[in-house]
Amino acid sequence: MATATKPNVRTYQMYVNGKWVDSKSGKTFPVYDPSTEEVIAYVPDAGPDDVDRAVQAARAAFDEGAWRSTTAQERGRLLFKLAEKIRQNTAFLAELETRNSGKPIVEAEYDVGDVATCFEYYGGLATKVVGYVNPVPDNALSLSMKEPVGVAGQIIPWNYPLLMAAWKLAPALAAGCTCVLKPAEQTPLTILEVANWFEEIGLPPGVVNIVTGYGETAGAPLVAHPGVDKVAFTGSAAVGKLIVKAAADTVKRVTLELGGKSPNIFFADADFEAAVDGALFGVFINQGEVCSAGSRILAEKPIYKKFVDAMCEKAKKIKLGPPLERETKMGPVVSKEQYDRVRSYQDVGKKEAKLAAGGGRPAGLGKGYYVEPTIFYDVDNSAKIAREEIFGPVAAVIPFEGEQNALKIANDTPYGLAAAVWTRDIFKAMRAVKSLRAGIVWVNHMQPTYVEAPWGGFKQSGFGRELGPWGIEEYLETKQVHINLNEQPIGWY
Ligand code: NAI
Ligand code: MG
Repeated sequence: MATATKPNVRTYQMYVNGKWVDSKSGKTFPVYDPSTEEVIAYVPDAGPDDVDRAVQAARAAFDEGAWRSTTAQERGRLLFKLAEKIRQNTAFLAELETRNSGKPIVEAEYDVGDVATCFEYYGGLATKVVGYVNPVPDNALSLSMKEPVGVAGQIIPWNYPLLMAAWKLAPALAAGCTCVLKPAEQTPLTILEVANWFEEIGLPPGVVNIVTGYGETAGAPLVAHPGVDKVAFTGSAAVGKLIVKAAADTVKRVTLELGGKSPNIFFADADFEAAVDGALFGVFINQGEVCSAGSRILAEKPIYKKFVDAMCEKAKKIKLGPPLERETKMGPVVSKEQYDRVRSYQDVGKKEAKLAAGGGRPAGLGKGYYVEPTIFYDVDNSAKIAREEIFGPVAAVIPFEGEQNALKIANDTPYGLAAAVWTRDIFKAMRAVKSLRAGIVWVNHMQPTYVEAPWGGFKQSGFGRELGPWGIEEYLETKQVHINLNEQPIGWY
């Protein structure tokens, strides 16, 4: 039964086996604009049957060779064509991304540029996947060959909807895999629009399937499906743990990019103005809905008070508002669920620490899931707001005394995605780089992300790496080939 739909609101179909289809049940669910709280579209509510149909299509495209038999050059060219289409449609995609996710339009435009760059990067890398000759001691030629892993099940979050799709699809396609991608239920629209171009750029049916659905009813069946060889997931640590368990039954390859509670460390000798800017950018960009958000701000005692004051002064001037307005620097968070979650952490913070800025809902904005950029200080690292990922614009500022103390606090977390350190002392910086238990360490910056460099976490932030050559490696198997050059029998028996 179809969900009752509103007039003039488009109902999308999903893209399976090169065709636009409804869910088998006919059910749909609504998609919202978080700045107006209004329904802007409906999408198919996929269940296990739909996932099965998509996996079978991906399986056939892989096993029957439609995709596997393409050359690396062909796959590369196709990714370049997709990148070009995306660039040509930047304005359209950015606007839709902003309407659906709430992120400021200027940020969405950057994201779409990064999406195209990601497809270009892997388009180029497709032809650079090479094997190896193993120096075995016998009269033989021993080779290591790289082959695609097979069908990839890819599950992504809502904070960078199209960019996360690109991070998953681009390396998989370059490697020669086929894909079933499940976007987050909150933000499925931009990737569905991009799927409109798949046929035109020459992607054979079944190579990329986009299945829209909820985590439990579409994500979980994708992870459990025996036809899927590899699962790539970005999202919460809680769901990441479920995925590892579920993937065990069929021994799937798994890569996980989970949350973080990344420390952003400021020594007293850091350039003060750059430091204040870096602290705010690190935690408030994209409404704080960033897996690598610098949500624990560690400031050295001699500058601590001045630093908190300077952060607050600037934070109070951050322009919140409708995300399609170009001056807007912070839009609403993505959903009612996320709004409630962030608001509840604001309340927890008021009991655990001192409030320096924000702490509630901004006045005068009417509808929309807006929350104030919020800064807590005198936070103890054992506090909930210092340990749990909030995924909203909430900063926990923690004082420290000296280098050892800073690094101890920084590493005292179950997570290990990113960390940053600000100092003009090269020795101090390098010691921190070596000590920090995180997959990404920035020095005198926070958040720059490049498709050329590896991305992924230590500890409970996950395993596997995305981007760069590391990203394609996760979609490749290594096959050992032994070619005997000695024509004599083995002669053992
Ligand atoms: P989530 O982990 O539930 O959702 C991420 C993706 O996983 C979505 O596509 C969702 O449909 C899917 N999913 C959910 N349950 C699943 C299951 N049982 N099996 C397979 N797939 C499943 O994250 P959610 O609920 O949207 O956000 C909760 C918190 O998670 C956030 O507040 C944030 O702390 C964290 N998070 C971290 C992200 C990151 O980039 N590291 C991204 C999104 C959320
Ligand atoms: Mg969830």
